[in-house]
Amino acid sequence: MGLADTHRRSLEDSAAFWSKASKLIAWSRAPSQVVPESSGRWQWFADGRLNTCFNALDRHVIAGHGDRVALVWESAMTGAQERFTYAALQRAVEVCAAMLVNLGVGHGDRVVIYMPMIPEAVIGMLACARIGAVHSVVFGGFAAPELAARLDDAGPKVILTASCGFEPGRVINYKELVDEALAMADNDICAVVVKQRPQLPAKLQPGRDLDWNAEMEAHAGAKLACVDVASGDPLYILYTSGTTGRPKGVVRDNGGHAVALAWSMRHIFGIEAGDVWWAASDIGWVVGHSYIVYAPLLIGATTVLYEGKPVGTPDAGTFWRICARHRVTGLFTAPTALRAIRRADEDGAHVREQVLDALEALFVAGERLDDETATWARNVLGVPVVDNWWQTETGWPITAGSRETRASGGRPTPGFNVVVLDANGRDVPRGGEGSICLRLPLPPGVTTAIWNDPDRFASEYLTAYPGYYHTGDSGYIDDDGTVQVLGRTDDVINVAGHRLSTGVLEGLLATHHSVAECAVVGLDDPLKGQVPHAFIVLKNGADHQDPAVADELVRLVRARFGAVAALREVHVVAALPKTRSGKVLRRTIRDVAQGQTVDTPPTIEDPSVLAVLKTQLGVRPAKSAHNIGRRTKGAAP
Ligand code: COA
Ligand code: AMP
Repeated sequence: MGLADTHRRSLEDSAAFWSKASKLIAWSRAPSQVVPESSGRWQWFADGRLNTCFNALDRHVIAGHGDRVALVWESAMTGAQERFTYAALQRAVEVCAAMLVNLGVGHGDRVVIYMPMIPEAVIGMLACARIGAVHSVVFGGFAAPELAARLDDAGPKVILTASCGFEPGRVINYKELVDEALAMADNDICAVVVKQRPQLPAKLQPGRDLDWNAEMEAHAGAKLACVDVASGDPLYILYTSGTTGRPKGVVRDNGGHAVALAWSMRHIFGIEAGDVWWAASDIGWVVGHSYIVYAPLLIGATTVLYEGKPVGTPDAGTFWRICARHRVTGLFTAPTALRAIRRADEDGAHVREQVLDALEALFVAGERLDDETATWARNVLGVPVVDNWWQTETGWPITAGSRETRASGGRPTPGFNVVVLDANGRDVPRGGEGSICLRLPLPPGVTTAIWNDPDRFASEYLTAYPGYYHTGDSGYIDDDGTVQVLGRTDDVINVAGHRLSTGVLEGLLATHHSVAECAVVGLDDPLKGQVPHAFIVLKNGADHQDPAVADELVRLVRARFGAVAALREVHVVAALPKTRSGKVLRRTIRDVAQGQTVDTPPTIEDPSVLAVLKTQLGVRPAKSAHNIGRRTKGAAP
């Protein structure tokens, strides 16, 4: 049965569809109630009980697959490699779980994991799942204040971290960042457990910090059964960009998540037990949670964990070497990584150096897949390039192409009733652009709650279009049913596959003493898809020719938000175009900065501001590769 038929069936009889899918999971109490009740908080498989770690590890060991490789780790940054069989990973997770229990972590308690791409991060996540604790992984590219905000919101008992991680040309001192964040946060941490890496061992603070290896040794051989949890109990919190500076912790349940991921791994990605699968993402993002850790293990596949970049560590052949070495059958990455590889190896010489006969398909997500990149990848690899569109909130693809039919573009996946609505909530006819929405109810696996804020899910996602979940993406549906996602309608931008809120960056820039007003917009970038550009109006008295202001602002964002913001371009302008009600016309600024023809918006307060802006931004700033602080011509006040 094709995906289209499957999709239709999932909407026509969702109880039958998801009841069958739920059999992919071992339940300690099988759910008798499959579909959520229509009132209150939706909960799939509401009366079911299970343990996600049991499903990811123990179940396979019990079934006699303990010798199968569960996790392969490759670090291009240190040259290290490690393999864990299912039995070995289960043992390590049991020991880590015993360590957490000994530190007082129990069912429902939170554990923040701030670690680079090392096996201990995966072990920590699964150990939390084992004891019914809730993990919250924080991406390493965030600076200490962002980590502190997440610590405050999640309220963890324990932090799992490492002494350091690596970015090309520099060592990231994770432990120092944790110390800084804890000094800012209002949090009663019981313990910080540190995986010491020989390249930069950390100084441990007596009474609070513990050495990961010593703790694991102290609990060696511990046996710890999986804790039975309710389907609706939270498995993890993952913070994502919202429209405000407040952290938005997406809550994922256990039951719906396990079922949806197991189903998707098999039927969307075509991966079965024993296959080798590699999601070249980061555990700090949802792709990493779903498709590095949980989905491949839930179905008994081998998952690859990679610490490194697609290029420069050491070259653009890294992906293909790893695929060949481990006989990867399915690779998942972001278009930006492919663009980086293509830029360094246009004719695919590195691909030809490897035997990639095991590779069956390349899956991409995280940002819009451009035709050129798709065609290039298809040509050099000779496999289908399959796009899939989703969000942190959904946890798994809303739409996906098909590797069987080699269709790249996405059709809705089971349970997602995708529609395009206009500003008045009316259906837009096929081919017409509008807001992409999902008719309620949402399928299993999709969040229905924001941590610490019971009303926020409904207010952010369900109120704009009653009866629908508002994705925040715009797009259209082709005549053949393919959903084309064009971009965000809110202030979220997508930089190198990373989701950033321009509002948050603006909030930080506004704290600078010379900044009177600012706007951050995402401009098209040939490598990263979009990059943020800041447009600032200086306060009276500030030196408008002083290049230090731009550098200070770039440094401020790096220090307060993190390098991942990739804000390198600051433009001093005389004024920002606004509507008569005072709203900054960001889209107008973006179009002017990109050299597009811009008509004067009818709502503009002062058309002369736009004319001045056009003159000022007549020249696009040159791109700085890795350097900070660049600005265009300083604008006269
Ligand atoms: N820890 C600390 N710093 C990090 C980091 C991490 N985990 N990840 C990124 N950064 C830093 C980078 O070192 C860089 O710092 P710099 O300004 O000092 O150079 C900055 O954040 C911006 O990083 P990035 O936007 O990733 O740019 P890049 O030039 O380092 O790399 C690519 C470009 C395309 C190679 C890289 O962005 C990439 O691999 N993208 C794919 C992303 C992805 O898989 N996303 C998941 C969605 S599926
Ligand atoms: P995140 O929550 O970080 O996964 O980011 C989700 C956002 O990334 C979506 O709302 C989209 O804007 C964008 N996105 C993810 N996948 C795709 C895709 N395949 N095509 C277009 N945009 C995508």
